[in-house]
Amino acid sequence: MSSESGRKLKFNILRYDPQTPGDKPRMETFEIEEAPVMTVFIALNEIRAKYAPALQYDFVCRAGICGSCGMVINGRPDLACRTLTSKFPEGEISLMPLPAFELIGDLSVDTGKFMRAMTERIEGWIHDETKDTVSLDQLEARMDPDTADKIYELDRCIECGCCVSACGTKRMREDFLGAVGFMKVARFEVDPRDQRTDADYYDLIGDDDGVFGCMTLLGCEDTCPKDLPHQSRIAYLRRKMAQVR
Ligand code: SF4
Ligand code: F3S
Ligand code: FES
Repeated sequence: MSSESGRKLKFNILRYDPQTPGDKPRMETFEIEEAPVMTVFIALNEIRAKYAPALQYDFVCRAGICGSCGMVINGRPDLACRTLTSKFPEGEISLMPLPAFELIGDLSVDTGKFMRAMTERIEGWIHDETKDTVSLDQLEARMDPDTADKIYELDRCIECGCCVSACGTKRMREDFLGAVGFMKVARFEVDPRDQRTDADYYDLIGDDDGVFGCMTLLGCEDTCPKDLPHQSRIAYLRRKMAQVR
């Protein structure tokens, strides 16, 4: 049945507010009529407006850019604003918060805290010993366009958290860095302005909580809404790190 038919959609949504003493996780069911080109995000707005004013979920851009609306949609981490309800012919959709992140309430999780800690852990900034201050008068360093393209390709991450939630290793091992961290390292590793050596990167990711802990489960590759090349970059980093020492 197509989304134009006005069929009934059934949403089963996890409700739980850890801030409310005594509240217990439970599934709540809501029925709404499907609209043409309806996304899960639009459906959630309708559910909140009609039936559940306290329903918690995150969004900013509604266009797959900010990474706020990641959630588990029928068992798979994805962006609510980029998922059409017509993708589910059975008309029944379950929504759960992304695992591996601190739950704020219902479908809202704190990816920001995780991403900040990850950035600090991998020191996600350009390391250039020759510059200890930034002068606004200084011209930007020139870069060969092919290198700039390579950096741009790896720098498209929107920090949605889908790759982290889809990773079985991350679920088993809390301190595992996760695919988003490997992608950030890969981005700095190709940047000629960053003077870090392979040995420096080894200190950051050369153990079982880093790239050697990855079991190539490829949930990251399957779920990344930006189609970042997780499989090839993780294999590349692992090969490079294995050559250090
Ligand atoms: Fe999201 Fe992909 Fe970035 Fe992971 S690498 S946080 S799935 S955009
Ligand atoms: Fe996890 Fe991706 Fe490795 S899903 S185990 S980081 S290939
Ligand atoms: Fe920004 Fe979905 S609301 S990515």
